Amino acid sequence: MPLAGRDYISIADLSDGEMLALFALADRFSRDMEARRASCQGKLLATLFYEPSTRTRLSFESAMLRLGGGVVSCPDAKTSSVAKGETIADTVRIVASYVDLIVIRNPLEGSARVAAEYANVPVINGGDGAHEHPTQTLLDLYTILREKGKLAGTRVALVGDLKHGRTAHSLAFGLARFGAQIACIAPKGLEMPDHVLGKLSHYFALKPEQYASLAELVPRPPASGRRKQLALGAEAMSLFDVIYVTRVQKERFRSEAEFAAVASSYQITAEALKKARPDALVMHPLPRVDELDYRIDADPRAAYFRQAAYGLPVRMALISVLLGAVRLRVSQKDKTGFRPPERQELDLGRYADLRCDNPRCVTALESYLRPVFEPVPRREGAVACSYCDHEQTLPTSAGGREQ
Ligand code: NCD
Repeated sequence: MPLAGRDYISIADLSDGEMLALFALADRFSRDMEARRASCQGKLLATLFYEPSTRTRLSFESAMLRLGGGVVSCPDAKTSSVAKGETIADTVRIVASYVDLIVIRNPLEGSARVAAEYANVPVINGGDGAHEHPTQTLLDLYTILREKGKLAGTRVALVGDLKHGRTAHSLAFGLARFGAQIACIAPKGLEMPDHVLGKLSHYFALKPEQYASLAELVPRPPASGRRKQLALGAEAMSLFDVIYVTRVQKERFRSEAEFAAVASSYQITAEALKKARPDALVMHPLPRVDELDYRIDADPRAAYFRQAAYGLPVRMALISVLLGAVRLRVSQKDKTGFRPPERQELDLGRYADLRCDNPRCVTALESYLRPVFEPVPRREGAVACSYCDHEQTLPTSAGGREQ
């Protein structure tokens, strides 16, 4: 199916071949930004950003302007009708009648899927709460391909707040699809969610090594002093081709105390980087807080600013293809890769009233939505919310047998 007119809500919405073809197009844009200067002339993009953003919103907007299109923006929920209680469904139905493409960022998990259901123009997920950030994954994969030449067999450490970090969730799937190896290094309580690990295992037979704390990888005590930072040590650093670091997602914690318990608990220091492989990449979706020492910025292995810059050609490629301005050529040999399974709605029978029990799920907060669940192949009696992917056990199987 051609990409023109489609939504991009999850990393699963693009096949491997489509991603590789998008990267080839991004190469063309990065060689020559002017290459398709008029290709989106007369088209309009709306950026609806209800959470803070610098890179994602501005790179989408620059991408559209560089393609000759125009941009309208709601950079802030406070200045839109959302502040008056307007729903996502109503907002996007209206905005879709003004523009040709919508990029949405919203704190509710599953919100971008709702937007896609109600808008009659393509919708791109610019980050839905702690769930997914699939365009960041495109530029992350593109960075690794550009700088290391391949993804298959690349050893990647995902470091940081993997529980709330939406970039890490989408990236884990992207890496798995292209045969990279993954290790998850997260402070206690911030581990990769079960629904991500479950899918990695089910679809790719991939069980990432997991370290309960950085200390497991760094057999030395935290540095003394004011900050309880655990530097990634030599032993760990030399194991990886890519060290992908994320910040602790302060805004997703329920209390200041819970955040304080894990804040500033890890950092890539200049000393640690000395021990990394000479051709390693340190990546980060940015913004950083204190998990990357400023002293490593000048090291050629610090790839995060280049990574952010790749966001522009990658987003130019995505916009131009979804708007039908450029047709992607997916090579025959790439048509064989991972194909996302069809979403399969479960008939819940007498549980038809079941609600998703994730309090940050869009279905929990936007009352007009009908919850939709899918089976979880590897967990009997469990269902997954089609919007936020959160898994829960059907009531009777928790307490006993299905009648
Ligand atoms: C990330 C995000 O918003 O999830 N930023 C980005 O889009 N580059 C990462 C973060 O906020 O930590």
